[in-house]
Amino acid sequence: MSDSVRIGIVGLGRLGRRHAENLAFRVAGAKLVAAASPVAEERAWAEKTLKGVTTYPGLTELLDHPGLDAVWLVTPTSLHADQVIQSIRAEKHVFCEKPLALDPADCDRAIAAAAGHSGQIVMIGFMRRFDLAYAEAKRRIEAAELGEVFAIRCVSEDPVDPSGFFVRFAPTSGGIFLDCCIHDIDLVRWMLDGAKPSSVAAVGSRILYPALAECGDVDTASATVSFTGGRIADFYVSRTSQVAATRPR
Ligand SMILES: NC(=O)c1ccc[n+]([C@@H]2O[C@H](COP(=O)([O-])OP(=O)(O)OC[C@H]3O[C@@H](n4cnc5c(N)ncnc54)[C@H](O)[C@@H]3O)[C@@H](O)[C@H]2O)c1
Repeated sequence: MSDSVRIGIVGLGRLGRRHAENLAFRVAGAKLVAAASPVAEERAWAEKTLKGVTTYPGLTELLDHPGLDAVWLVTPTSLHADQVIQSIRAEKHVFCEKPLALDPADCDRAIAAAAGHSGQIVMIGFMRRFDLAYAEAKRRIEAAELGEVFAIRCVSEDPVDPSGFFVRFAPTSGGIFLDCCIHDIDLVRWMLDGAKPSSVAAVGSRILYPALAECGDVDTASATVSFTGGRIADFYVSRTSQVAATRPR
């Protein structure tokens, strides 16, 4: 491996462009060398914005880029598991955006592939684990500074989306719990050291975006989860916050 990690990004949509600019201009030790998208305008954006990056129509072509160390997957969730497995088999390190897949069987396939290549790093984009405040909470729990943790309450409110992106994105997202609340679910399991759920009760409503009925999704939801050992977690998640819409993103 050279001094820099030579990275190829796949997916140049809403989030992929942000990752691409960070990797190209802001992350020490990272060198963005390749970018892939099936959409010609997205490849044109990459060629113009990310000088010196070679573009490809898809992952298969990108994996042949000379000297590539790692692949950065920011593609629709329905593609993640197969693309993770393909990248692992091509001997690349892998970063994949959350969630890993839309169902547990696909997650298990990807996890098994990673386990068979222990010399490569394979990680999912649960960035809140690197947020200083959450990391400090985890440290305090582990140091027993917060006593016995018996309940955790999580609130995540995404901004209202007048652009319509969220409703178009919903059919391949896995729904509000898998797509949005997954960050809180990951944090709770992380804070509770991988605790396993024993029962779940959940409700949801779609008041602001009735079109979500077509894919069975909701814009506001709440769940209470019991974990083995009697601990509980409450999750409230919404896509309807006017307050969040006024914050810079
Ligand atoms: N960590 C977070 O908080 C966070 C936030 C937003 C999105 N995400 C995740 O990032 C992923 C992408 O979300 P997005 O909002 O950027 O979606 P998007 O629809 O804007 O972008 C998807 C990109 O994938 C490309 N693509 C589609 N099919 C492809 C294929 N076969 N091969 C290669 N590229 C292909 C599209 O051209 C597009 O560039 C999703 O899994 C989402 O859950 C995570």
